[in-house]
Amino acid sequence: MRRHRLHLLGSLLLVAAAGVFTSGAAPASTAAQPRPLGQVIPAPASVTPGGAPYRITGDTRIRVGDSREAHRVGEYLADVLRPSTGYPLPVTERGAGGIRLRLAQGPYGAEGYRLDSGRGGVTITAARPAGLFHGVQTLRQLLPAAVERDTVQPGPWLVAGGTVRDVPRYPWRGAMLDVSRHFFTVDEVKRYVDRLALYKFNKLHLHLSDDQGWRIAIDSWPRLATHGGSTEVGGGPGGFYTKDDYREIVRYAASRHLEVVPEIDMPGHTNAALASYADLNCDGVAPPLYTGTAVGFSSLCVGKEVTYDFVDDVIRELAALTPGRYLHIGGDEAHSTSHADYVTFMDRVQPVVAKYGKTVVGWHQLTGATPAEGALAQYWGLDGTGAEEKARVAKAARNGTGIVLSPADRIYLDMKYDRTTPLGLSWAGYVEVKRSYDWDPGAYLPGVPEDAVRGVEAPLWTETLENPAHLDHMAFPRLPGVAELGWSPAATHDWEDYRTRLAAQGPRWDALGVGYHRSPQVDWPAE
Ligand code: ACM
Repeated sequence: MRRHRLHLLGSLLLVAAAGVFTSGAAPASTAAQPRPLGQVIPAPASVTPGGAPYRITGDTRIRVGDSREAHRVGEYLADVLRPSTGYPLPVTERGAGGIRLRLAQGPYGAEGYRLDSGRGGVTITAARPAGLFHGVQTLRQLLPAAVERDTVQPGPWLVAGGTVRDVPRYPWRGAMLDVSRHFFTVDEVKRYVDRLALYKFNKLHLHLSDDQGWRIAIDSWPRLATHGGSTEVGGGPGGFYTKDDYREIVRYAASRHLEVVPEIDMPGHTNAALASYADLNCDGVAPPLYTGTAVGFSSLCVGKEVTYDFVDDVIRELAALTPGRYLHIGGDEAHSTSHADYVTFMDRVQPVVAKYGKTVVGWHQLTGATPAEGALAQYWGLDGTGAEEKARVAKAARNGTGIVLSPADRIYLDMKYDRTTPLGLSWAGYVEVKRSYDWDPGAYLPGVPEDAVRGVEAPLWTETLENPAHLDHMAFPRLPGVAELGWSPAATHDWEDYRTRLAAQGPRWDALGVGYHRSPQVDWPAE
């Protein structure tokens, strides 16, 4: 309710502001109205509309001071704005007015920002470059959807007057892409990263290995990629990332302030590795490559020492390639590994992750073993099932294991929206937009202390998804809802308000070429 009042107040002020504006000197179309200051996803922590809007013109500069990192964010903003506005938008150190990106101490944390907009300009202030970058995403959404087009549009380019103060609720706002079941090229991954950046995600979890494909070159075990990466679900050619490819993904993600979290799933989901090296199998016989979609049939050989040589080599090489703090070791659906073996395996493997300087992340089955100190468990269960498992996760959380929430019946983006969705799976049920959005990560798992919840992550499994259009159709419009669950204060959570803001994203996606599911739960503007 609070937000509704804010919006109403905002509209009144904006009507007044538009009056001031059109009586001023700027050549304005009288119909021009800025978008409401709060109409952003994820919902900002605080929105105070007021005053005249700022108008971006051919004279606008992007001022960044002398910080190289602010300069980079400024160039990114200019790259967004130049094609559609047709303006030069020079990125400069100094000058008056315009768009200013300012690094300064203040109550912004590592990722928060403040955006002040008025007749004289827009200033985004943050303590860290990530905050400036997230503020830029807010600025982008305050401009008309046509700003996202890659040809010159008429404008005008108005930013509503007022102040946005914004900090994220959670430090972990992730998206996982399964590049194993179907392989996605570096450029396709970058395209997804750009979509994530729009909504202030900060983790890109890459599911780099599974039964159907091993996707990262490991020098000490070259057949993992050359053989284990040579196919995918359905028997296509698959593929893998060279080390330079992977570095390029990491670099690109970092340029959008996302940290790559690489996953090597073990001890199950390992057929591609087992097929590549006979020695890794307990019986010494390599199975054939697998292109189906069953799960739970493969396991590394827990009793063989070569298994740990393999794990050490893979983790060492992957850790060396990964500047981020985390390394995900999977641990889900190890149905072909006995419980005792699973515990033995995790007891040996987790210290290897620490040895190479990384923090363990595992699917929540890791809590059935002994999570290492500081480890994170990624919960992917469902409502109404697995009470014992939920209790185990809660106990681990009380003992210090951080929890990342990915409930499959809420934010698995590969679940069908409804019976008619042509792509995706439905083992966790159908997940329409409201169901995906309408839950509280802070109160989701009983018995988990609120401060154990590190955030949310939306996995996108690709058994049925073969190309970027497929990814778009399943991710949109649910992905922004996950971003909001991770970023916005619980007090802003309101389905009716959200669905209005979501509807306004439709034209933006049209402009960006994002093909989305036109959910009947949202009143999309006419095409
Ligand atoms: C999973 O969906 N097996 C993590």
